[in-house]
Amino acid sequence: MKKLIIAASLCLASFAQADDGEAIYNSACVACHGTGIGPMVHMKGAWQARLEAKGGVDGLLESAKQGLNAMPPMGGCNDCSDEQLRAAITYMTTFQ
Ligand code: HEC
Repeated sequence: MKKLIIAASLCLASFAQADDGEAIYNSACVACHGTGIGPMVHMKGAWQARLEAKGGVDGLLESAKQGLNAMPPMGGCNDCSDEQLRAAITYMTTFQ
């Protein structure tokens, strides 16, 4: 029983995080990353080289916080926590 409860809460936690990333993306990042102004959401070709150059999501998080060329610091989401930005980046770099 205990194991079941732990499994269920782990499951909920990962769903919450995925939703969060999608929600942040939709409110703060879609204007550029859904239009081609920035690297397109879910497009491996747009992200693979960046992931490799920066050493994965953690490296991309650092550059998103600083801003890069046309992208403002924090991707413009000044209220976002590191966890929220990381979730949005993870969402954008999930390839279909
Ligand atoms: C005003 C447009 C704009 C918004 C809003 C924006 N981005 Fe970007 N983003 C860009 C552009 C343009 C680039 C490519 C910059 C370059 O390589 O010159 C980029 C690149 C990135 C990169 C890759 C950085 C790297 O080192 O290669 C990440 C990660 C990223 N954005 C995350 C986000 C997140 C997360 C959000 C929302 C919280 C966001 N961006 C919102 C325009 C935007």
